[in-house]
Parts: sequence; C-alpha cells; structure tokens
Amino acid sequence: TDSYPGLTRDSRFSQLTPEHVAYFKQLLGQDSAVIDGINADAAADIEPFNEDWMHKYKGQCRLVLKPGSTEEVSKILRYCNEKMLAVVPQGGNTGLVGGSIPVFDEIVISMGRMNTIHSFDEMSGSLVLDAGCILEVADQHVAERGYIFPLDLGAKGSCHVGGNVSTNAGGLRLLRYGSLHGSVLGMEAVLPDGTVMNDMCTLRKNNTGYDLKQLFIGAEGTLGIITKLVVQCAQRSPAVNVALFGIESYEKAQRAFREAKLQLSEILSAFELMDGTSQRLVHQVRGGTRPLENDYPFYCLIETSGSNSEHDYEKLEKFLEDVMSNEVIADGVVAQDATQIKTLWSWREGITECIGHWGGTYKYDVSIPLSEMYLIVHDVKARLSEAGLLGETDDHPVVDVLGYGHMGDSNLHLNIAVRRYDKEVEKVLEPYVYEWIEKRQGSISAEHGLGLAKKNYIGYSRNETMIGLMKQIKTLYDPNGIMNPYKYI
Ligand code: FAD
Ligand code: MLT
Ligand code: ZN
Repeated sequence: TDSYPGLTRDSRFSQLTPEHVAYFKQLLGQDSAVIDGINADAAADIEPFNEDWMHKYKGQCRLVLKPGSTEEVSKILRYCNEKMLAVVPQGGNTGLVGGSIPVFDEIVISMGRMNTIHSFDEMSGSLVLDAGCILEVADQHVAERGYIFPLDLGAKGSCHVGGNVSTNAGGLRLLRYGSLHGSVLGMEAVLPDGTVMNDMCTLRKNNTGYDLKQLFIGAEGTLGIITKLVVQCAQRSPAVNVALFGIESYEKAQRAFREAKLQLSEILSAFELMDGTSQRLVHQVRGGTRPLENDYPFYCLIETSGSNSEHDYEKLEKFLEDVMSNEVIADGVVAQDATQIKTLWSWREGITECIGHWGGTYKYDVSIPLSEMYLIVHDVKARLSEAGLLGETDDHPVVDVLGYGHMGDSNLHLNIAVRRYDKEVEKVLEPYVYEWIEKRQGSISAEHGLGLAKKNYIGYSRNETMIGLMKQIKTLYDPNGIMNPYKYI
C-alpha cells in the first residue's frame, strides 16, 4: 500500500459529526443508502470503497453515500459545500490511478444506485442513461437494438459510464469510434454548490458557445458529479473477425499496422499490441493453450468490423497472405466463431489482471510517437536490471517489465510487475519514465488519467500556462475545493 508522503489533511475541511450523518440519513431516507462508520463500526462494509482495484491506495473514509436521484446528489453537495465536507465521487472503482479512493476522511459518493437507462433512439443511436449504469449493461441494451456502445474495455463488467466519462477512458475500440469527447452528446452534472448543469442535448451538432460538458470529460471528479449522459452509439457491425499474429520485431509490428490500415481501411476496428513477456505472464497465471505454437517477441491482435462477412473475410485473407509472404508476420490465427473471438481477446484483455499476480504493478499509461513507442520498455528493463532489482528470485522486487496497449492509438501500457511495492524501484522509475516521455513530447497519461498516482508529474505533459488555466477553472467551479481533493489539481 502506498503511503502519501508530503500530503497532510487539509484543516479547512470539517470533521464528520453525528449531526452531519443524521442529515444525510434523513435526506436519503433508507438505511442501505448510507454506510455509517461515524456512529458505528462499519469498517468492513466501507473497506471496498476505501481501496482501489489494484489494492495500492487506501483511504480513511468513514461515510459512504449512495444517492438515488440528481436531486439527492444536488442536496448532498450543497450541504457538503456549506459545511466544508470533502467528497470523492466513485463509480465502479476500477480506475487505475487512485482517483476514486479518498486520501483521508473524504465522504465517498457512490453512484451505483443511479443506474436507469432512460431512452434509446433507434434512428439516431443516441442513448440517454444515468451515470451509474454499468458499461456492459449499457452495451447489452443497445446491442439488442443493433447498436454498439462506442467504448469497450476490460473492466466493462463493473465500471460505470459516469466513471468512463470522468476518466475519458479510451479502451479497445477508440481507433474506430473515437474518444468520448466526440461521442458524449449531452450531460447532466451537479456542481459543488448543488447547481444542476443540464446539457442533455441528444443531437450531434450543437455549436452554441463554449461546450462546457467537455470540461467534465476527463475531469476525474474534480469539478462536479456527472449524473446523466447522452451517448452517440454506432451501428453494430454484423461481421466481426479477429486475428492474432506472432511478430519477430517491433519494426515489423509497425509495418503490420501500416499494412492493416492500408488494406483493411474502413473495416479495421482494433489494432492491439502485446509483447512476448505479457503473453508469457498471462499463460503462467491462467494456463491453457496459447493461440500460436511458438513464442514471439511481439503479438498483434487485429479486429475488423463490417457489414458483409464475405467481403471482410476476403479482405482479411488477402491482408494475411500479403503480410505472411512479405515476412512481416511470422504466424497468425483467425478466430472461426464467436467463442474463438472471445478467447483471442482474452489474451489481450486478461493482461491487466494477470500481471498483478505476483504482488502488484507499477503502471505507466503513456502516449509516445509510434516509431519509438516500445523503446521505453527496453530502457526501463535495462535500468532495473543494472540496479539489481529485477530477477527470478524473491529477493528481487521486480518480476519483469512488459509493454502492451493500443498500438492503433500510439498508446503503450508500460508495466513493471513486482513482488511488492518498493521505494527503491520507485526511485529508479520516477522521474526517469516521465523525463523519457517529455523528451519525446509524449503524454504521461494517455487514457487512465492522473488521479493521485501522477499528481506530481502533470508538468511533464502540460506547461505552466495550461496548469494555471486549469487551476482557474477549478476555482471557478469548486471555490471551496471540496471535490476530490489532494488529487491532480
Ligand atoms: P472509478 O474508478 O470509480 O472513478 C474514476 C474517476 O472518476 C475518479 O476520479 C472518480 O472520482 C471519478 N468519477 C467516477 N464516477 C464519477 C461521476 N459520476 N462523476 C464525476 N466523477 C466521477 N481505462 C482505459 O482508458 N482504457 C482501458 O482499456 C482500460 N481498461 C481497464 C481494464 C481493467 C481490467 C481495469 C481494472 C481498468 C481499466 N481501465 C481502462 C481504467 C479505467 O479508468 C476504468 O476502468 C474506468 O473508466 C473507470 O470507471 P469507474 O466507474 O470504475 O470509475
Ligand atoms: C488496457 O488497455 O488493458 C487497460 O488500459 C488497462 C491496463 O493498462 O492494464
Ligand atoms: Zn488501455
């Protein structure tokens, strides 16, 4: 568990009292909507809200509120703002940067009860839903109507759409459907003083002044609480193909990507990279038969989505023939049915969970120009080896260094799988990794956000002027600073 060096509880925030709790209980009106650790020992019930998915960050929250309506969110925030009570909005708590976890005793506002799907327009594809809807449930709802939610990621079974929008999650199909900045058409959000910002536009075009909802996309709960969303969904493709390749070098992986864009063009819906280490670790943890017979230093997973399976398959076959005969790829397998599609995807989607198996992971979610993207994995590995921290035996904190990610979006997930979190390892990694990224004008947070993990490093990807403007916006929306304090802003 990380300690929080240099952070002290802000004394401007009030300590929770039984009187505060009584107000919330009276407001929310049902026992299950308040987990009260002030009047009773509720540590066990609160624990899941106090700890992140990676078991890396631990908070000291003693009160969890579960509002059931926008009006309740508004009343909670107005009261907290008046009484100087700090809050942390929480969705599915699958975030990977510690943003959804209180640092001290902030109140957790958990959005899971606000999970109604309000409407879906089968003509335009616009979906109106509460922020607390689970991503997979939303996708299932539109799938039954021939559409697809424009975001997909490994945590789909538990993350909320409100959490996705608050982190501006990218995921596995950004290549095809673009970022949430484009597909969120409308939003309802509650500001810290209780004001409800209603911008529930269901139409694609709306150029009427500043597009304020954009500020909440990726704000990580620092400006207000998102309560409802309108999301543009795309037509679901009836013909989906997935292929997985073994590749001898990173240079060849880039050539494969270039060829895939050229030859598969409009039907290409995902291009993901996994290195040999990531696949070896998944295999060690899960067992099972690996998709390809031999080991390769790199693997790519390609997905195509189109409307005519014969046409798509033909294109894919031609592409495969070309890249095999040119020796761009060394081996490959194409899924033959829906089950095999799921299996191939599981070798990619399963990495996040499997690499934590030995004790934990240092995660760096970065954007780097493609030509240099994988180089960082070699450099970091060499540094940790030189420092004597990487090895097969328990006296080494580091198990291995690996890279995978959304190659189609120049987004690499550099991960250092560890047996334990260790200050020596941290010192070797930081600020080295951030300096490395800065030199290449990359981004230190491609899609996971900054949260607590990267709060001290924003300056590697944003200049003083921009950070200054962000602070002004924060002060304008949240003058008392009660929204998700101690995090990046
Ligand atoms: P939480 O973790 O609960 O919260 C995340 C942040 O949003 C916090 O700062 C929180 O305060 C804030 N927040 C939550 N709800 C609201 C709200 N209603 N209003 C205001 N603020 C709110 N991310 C990617 O980008 N791409 C991936 O491919 C990807 N894959 C993942 C795979 C796994 C297995 C896991 C565990 C995570 C993955 N993630 C990925 C991380 C990603 O950020 C989250 O999965 C998801 O977007 C967060 O949603 P959540 O509901 O769990 O939010
Ligand atoms: C992914 O692409 O798998 C996610 O962003 C999670 C991770 O970085 O492990
Ligand atoms: Zn990712």
